[in-house]
Parts: sequence; structure tokens; C-alpha cells
Amino acid sequence: MVSRVIPVDDFDLVIFGATGDLARRKILPGLFRRYLAEQIPADARIIGAARTRQSDAEFRTETAAAIHEFMGAPVDKARLAEFLDHLCYVAVDARGADGWPELADKMRPGLVHAFYFSVAPALFGDIAERLVSHKIADDDSRVVVEKPFGRDLATARALNATLARYFHESQIYRIDHYLGKETVQNLMAVRFANILFEPLWNAQYVDHVQITVAETVGVGGRGEYYDHSGAIRDMVQNHMMQLLCLIAMEPPYHFDPDAVRDEKLKVIRALEPLGAGDIVRGQYAAGPDGPGYLDDAENQDLRTESFVALKVNVANWRWTGTPFYLRTGKRLRARTSEIVVTFKEPPHSIFDEAVPRPNQLVIKLQPNEGMHLTVMIKEPGPGGMRLVQVPLDMSFADALGKDGAEMPDAYERLIMDVIRGNQTLFMRGDEVEAAWAWTDPIIQEWEAGPARPEPYDPGSSGPEEALRLLHRDNRRWREIRA
Ligand code: BG6
Repeated sequence: MVSRVIPVDDFDLVIFGATGDLARRKILPGLFRRYLAEQIPADARIIGAARTRQSDAEFRTETAAAIHEFMGAPVDKARLAEFLDHLCYVAVDARGADGWPELADKMRPGLVHAFYFSVAPALFGDIAERLVSHKIADDDSRVVVEKPFGRDLATARALNATLARYFHESQIYRIDHYLGKETVQNLMAVRFANILFEPLWNAQYVDHVQITVAETVGVGGRGEYYDHSGAIRDMVQNHMMQLLCLIAMEPPYHFDPDAVRDEKLKVIRALEPLGAGDIVRGQYAAGPDGPGYLDDAENQDLRTESFVALKVNVANWRWTGTPFYLRTGKRLRARTSEIVVTFKEPPHSIFDEAVPRPNQLVIKLQPNEGMHLTVMIKEPGPGGMRLVQVPLDMSFADALGKDGAEMPDAYERLIMDVIRGNQTLFMRGDEVEAAWAWTDPIIQEWEAGPARPEPYDPGSSGPEEALRLLHRDNRRWREIRA
């Protein structure tokens, strides 16, 4: 099966913060991969913009180095050289006057104009104001902004208000890179392009849902950001919430940006405030393979959580009575992200020898993307009716062949959606605010109290207390394994 490349129009894409970490790790290598896939049109131009003074040639050399470092595959030098021809650079002062007229001169009329704000949110307003006052951006331009989109409801509202002074909502692309992951989009395909699951997709048939995003890395090197964030702000308010929305939402009337986002918003608004004892926070301790969180963060007093587990209820007709258990953490046993939908047991067993076990649909987001559904069958051989649970397996790599195995990086997909003008996989302003409105009280209550996160061993599944969160409901987490 050959993946199709849908051509995009010619564009000028300006990357503010082009010398920063995100641009080097994700944006520029992602664009190069799209170039290799023949999706970047011959006339497209990528304009790096940052404070550093450097020439086009220096920016191209830097970009080549970043691509060699972060592509994760051998780089075809001739193709890279062609790609670099699409790049140029302007030094701009986000808070001053330098560079803006030069940037204005570079923009070519009649093309798609996109501006990627890969900079601290404190600069969004300054850059937006200059783009408009220098007539670099107009009503057709698109702006792309990254997380963290605020650190609470008030700051998110302020950022939305700042952007709204210069751009319409239809021009603003708020990235949550989880929405760009192939398997996350597959959630919608599985749910809404098959008849099989949807009739069972409710509290009558689903016992509970688990969403796990486990990482093996610690926070070493990004302590300064992470200390002021913690797992709830860093992962739950955005990525985990988006996964929850895609699992829980009603079918949108069409696969259209606002129809999808309206349905996601309804899920966020239906989230009940957390009950007492429905959240567990953890912090990794030092272990034989490395330092603990407090050493990584270089501050022994910190109460920042590097792990969190929550029991969440979606209070609506479809889901009341079916809990959603979410957990995410650093330095856990394996890097794995998965969603497990556990169905209820059959109402009555006709077999004396064995009780059927509940069916589970496991959707593996990374690594080894795929799905499996556990079903009960008869154990082969004579000697009565013995039941065993087996998986009906579908690894996307096996099912779709080589092209299926090559999952594009989330950023590649999302940047091309910006150029196409498709906002379906981007968060709308009201969605982000609703997510903060639900998370704010959880964070405030914690910050007002004296409690410390529970320590957990690196390489484990998190603190013991997280296991008890499910045990007390007579359930258990699926084991964390790659
Ligand atoms: C980022 C978080 O948004 O997502 C990181 O800030 C986290 O802390 C990362 O490691 C996880 O993304 P992925 O794509 O590696 O699962």
C-alpha cells in the first residue's frame, strides 16, 4: 500500500525561534521529510527568523547539522542540499524594530503565508503586533502556536485575547502534537468508520477505560520548565485530555474542524470535578541508573509531580458510571502510550468450567502502533470446554506493509495541515480554556496544601498508591510494557 501525498500550494513559512530547540529537533527535520516525500512545492520558501545575526548560508549550515542530528536515518546529501535551497534567514528583534522591514520584503504576495511562533508565549503579542503593523500578515495569514498555552485559565485567556487582537480564530493553529500522531487520528477512524464498536461504546457495555502515557526519560536538562509545570500541566491538561476527548466524544456530524472540536469541547465541559482521593501524584526517586527528580531539578524542596494518576468521570448520558483512569509519568518501566477499553463481562456464563473474561480493546499509540482485541475461545483439545483469552492482533506495520510502518512524525502532518488551512487537528481557544477550567482547581488545591508527591522507583510503574486507585474499585492497571 503506497501512502498518498496530497500536494499543497506554494507557501512562505516563517519560523520565529528558528534557532531554538523545537525548530532544530522537530520543525526543520519534519519539513525535510515532507520534502523527501515530494510534498514541498518547488516555489515554497522557509524563512528562519530569530534574534541571532547570521547569513542565509549560516542558517542553512545550522539546519543541515540539525537534520543530520535528529532525522534518525541516514541523510541523502544531494536531496538535503536541494531542500536547503528553500531556506533563508532574517534576524528580527521581537521586541524592537530591527529586521521587520527586511522580513516584509521577503514575503511574496499571492502565496500561503504561515507564521510559526516557536518562541516563549510572552513574545506572542509582540510578534503578532509587528506582523500586523508592518503589513507582513493579513486576514489570510495563519499563525501557529505551541504549548504551553498558558499555565492556568487566566493566562490562557490572556493569550487568547492577545492573539484575538490581531487574528481571527480561523487563522490560529494551536498545536497539540498528540493530535498529529497517526494512531491518535486512527482512533477516530476506528470509532467512526466501523459499525462494530460504536453500539457498545457506552456505559452499558464499557466497564472502564485506561489511558497511559509512560516515559522512560527523566526531566534532566529541562528542569527549569518542568519544575513550574509538573505532569498535570505538562501532559494532562493537553495531551491526555485530547486522548480522552477522542475516546469519549459523540460522533461529529462531519469530519470538519468545528464539528470535531464542538464534540471535544462537550466532553471537557462534562468532566466532573475530581473526587477526594481520585488523584495520586508521584516523584521519581534516585535509583541505580540515575539521579532522582530532586537531583535532576537541583532543588530538594520541590513538590512538583513527575507522575500522576487520576480517576475521571464524564458526566453525560453515554458515560456516567464508566470511569476513565489516566496515568502518565517520567522514568517509568517502559516508553509506551496506550488506551485500553475494557468491556463488561457477559451477563451470564453458560460454561461450568470457566468464567469468560471481559473483552479488551487495546489501542497502542507508540511504539509498535496497532490495536488488538482480546476474545475468549475454546482451548484446543479434548477434555471439556476450557476457555482461553487470545488477542485478535493488528500491528499497523504488519497490516499495512512498509508504508504503514513508516509513521510520519506528528509535526510533519500538522505543519502541512496549516499550509492546507485545515484546523481539525488543532485546539480551538474555547477548548484550551475549558481544559484549564477543569485542571485549575486540581492544581490550586495541591499548591495550597503541604503534601508531597509519593516517591517511586525509577523503572517501576509509579507509586504504590496509583495501584490502589484501581484496586479499591476492584480493577487493575494493564502492565506497563513496551
Ligand atoms: C511534551 C512534553 O509535550 O510531550 C514532554 O512537554 C513529553 O514532557 C512529550 O516528554 C511526550 O511526547 P511524545 O511524542 O514523545 O510522546
